[in-house]
Amino acid sequence: MSTSTTTPNMAAVLPSPRADLVVQEQPIPTPGPGELLIRNHAVALSPSDWKRQAFDIMIPSYPTILGADLAGTVVSVGDSSDGSHQFSPGDRVFSAAPGFATGLPSNGAHQTYTVVKTSTTSPLPSDMTFLQGAVQPTALGTATVGIVDILGLPLPGIPASLLKTKAAVGIDDKILLVWGGASTVGSTTIQLARIAGLSVIATASPAHHDKLRSIGAAAVVDYRSPTAVDEILAAAAGLGKKIAFAVDTISLPHTLGPVSQVLARSGVPTTRLAHTLPWPSGLAVPEGVEAGNIAMETVWGPREDLAQWIYQVAAPEWFTTGKVEPVGYRLVSGGLAGIQNGLDELRGGKVSGEKLVVEV
Ligand SMILES: NC(=O)c1ccc[n+]([C@@H]2O[C@H](COP(=O)([O-])OP(=O)(O)OC[C@H]3O[C@@H](n4cnc5c(N)ncnc54)[C@H](OP(=O)(O)O)[C@@H]3O)[C@@H](O)[C@H]2O)c1
Repeated sequence: MSTSTTTPNMAAVLPSPRADLVVQEQPIPTPGPGELLIRNHAVALSPSDWKRQAFDIMIPSYPTILGADLAGTVVSVGDSSDGSHQFSPGDRVFSAAPGFATGLPSNGAHQTYTVVKTSTTSPLPSDMTFLQGAVQPTALGTATVGIVDILGLPLPGIPASLLKTKAAVGIDDKILLVWGGASTVGSTTIQLARIAGLSVIATASPAHHDKLRSIGAAAVVDYRSPTAVDEILAAAAGLGKKIAFAVDTISLPHTLGPVSQVLARSGVPTTRLAHTLPWPSGLAVPEGVEAGNIAMETVWGPREDLAQWIYQVAAPEWFTTGKVEPVGYRLVSGGLAGIQNGLDELRGGKVSGEKLVVEV
């Protein structure tokens, strides 16, 4: 695999607010300290991409380049005298691209070359393809920040110095509810919770129930059922445990409402709830629920220490031992030129239980 920059940097450029993407040649960026230049071979499409484009959010200036998930080959390495992992040109990697945190086009994934942070880059396991690798990076960071920083659940092997949230105690007879278990963040959260030794009840469309059970959910409930809250509480009673934690991967009023009802009726005086979007105004946080917003972008800032453990220590072990399975994907045709169609499909809400990816 070439590690030179003889290929031009073609990019899916967002030229102005709410415009369609245009594939154009861009300059090849240069990595700074603690950064890597990656020749992307596969990039994924995320809900944050269409939302940034459609709502003109988290974009400080135009033109810009979207995309948060990529897999490819290291082309060049910036100064890593800070002690971050020493990647070398030619290494196969997957990485969470920090564009939605920095706003810099060079940090967007949807182009041939992206500058990424070493701290959120993982070696790609030898049996994992670039397409599989591109699916996982931001979900991995989001799920881990939720479990460790918001819920206070230590993962096995995590150094005590990385635990900043008061640890939850007495978790053996407790359950984590994952609302939206078929989402990329949800499927990853279920698997990490299983590693942490917690029982999980998830919600998902019926088509995904078997899959979510196979990756560790003890019970799965259809979130569209009018009796979903009662069914979740009955499943918990059947397990002989109580629901003390929840991750709402969707975090809109119509999901946080039932999640709050489950926690309020769980019989646990103080519960913890991690949400992936800011808490909606007009919806009260129920008494006894400690709610915290998962801010994935902290992995490029104050939680860079946690990121280094997730991406360079934990994830390689989880994937090579099969403790975590990569989420399923569907290839969108057309390469970079196919990204706009993929984002339109995501926006239409028709994508279910799979990540859309394109080859670069
Ligand atoms: N805070 C952060 O730092 C951060 C980071 C990454 C992502 N996010 C956010 O987290 C959310 C999930 O991202 P993702 O990439 O994991 O999404 P995704 O993989 O695209 O999620 C798609 C899945 O969402 C499920 N879903 C949709 N509406 C639902 C509902 N009302 N109840 C339960 N499940 C529902 C669907 O499940 P079924 O197929 O079962 O119907 C679908 O399979 C997005 O809103 C994203 O913007 C936040």
